[in-house]
Amino acid sequence: MAHIISGKEIASSVRAQIAEKGRLFTERTGVVPGLAVVIVGEDPASKVYVRNKKKGCEEVGFYSEVHELPEDITQERLMSELESINKNPKIHGILVQLPLPRHLDEKAVIDFIPPEKDVDAFHPVNTGKIMIGNYDFLPCTPAGVMKMLEYENIDVTGKNCVVIGRSNIVGKPMAMLLLHSNGTVTICHSKTKNLADITSKADILVSSVGKAKFVTADMVKEGAVVIDVGMNRDENGKLCGDVAFDEVAEKASAITPVPGGVGVMTITMLLQNTLKAAEIAVK
Ligand code: GUN
Repeated sequence: MAHIISGKEIASSVRAQIAEKGRLFTERTGVVPGLAVVIVGEDPASKVYVRNKKKGCEEVGFYSEVHELPEDITQERLMSELESINKNPKIHGILVQLPLPRHLDEKAVIDFIPPEKDVDAFHPVNTGKIMIGNYDFLPCTPAGVMKMLEYENIDVTGKNCVVIGRSNIVGKPMAMLLLHSNGTVTICHSKTKNLADITSKADILVSSVGKAKFVTADMVKEGAVVIDVGMNRDENGKLCGDVAFDEVAEKASAITPVPGGVGVMTITMLLQNTLKAAEIAVK
């Protein structure tokens, strides 16, 4: 049976460190780190994520604002809302919850957020900086995964790392961070041929496909480390990851559960980025 990597436990330890660093920062500068989260529409999953982001801020003593905007908002109105948030001196980090309703231009929104307030690290300047390994912010989910590997003393150097999924939010930056840590990295996606052949050679397997129980035991090497970034509902409406947990846990050496795995780390890294944004602002 695999060791279960507890996101909860790691997040709690990292959040305590962030809270302490934040406290010292405020003592020194008089500034409380502040995050604005913008949500457009009523997507239930997005609403849960946003609520947890606000709770996370409260937990570490940061200021936060949630801007709930109507589903049918125009691009113009959204941009003017972002402009006013950007002028608020209490706000150091700005996050617009994705996905946006289809009529809105996501790229224009990402491009608008100043790179130094871009706590998601989605702006092209920040993604470019990540590529060359000289960055202020890392995208929260891949950064959370790296933190879990570090906490568990799992050395990436020379390991076969396979990432399933090539999104800008998770797959691509995840692969880049594993590469920065000297892993030998393969990215698989929906057009990959012989997926199981590739995944079953992985020492470290990260799945971010968004399909319930997609990764089965036959796709996993004996003793692999399996990181499940998925957040799905199974046939009974129960929250589950991309990985068929019970059967894969029999084969892996370590595995992250859902819930209680990567998700809570994502928000923890957002708090770290918010502190960083505040530090940049007072420099
Ligand atoms: N939607 C799903 N994950 C994320 C994330 O990390 N940031 C934002 N802004 N939206 C998301």
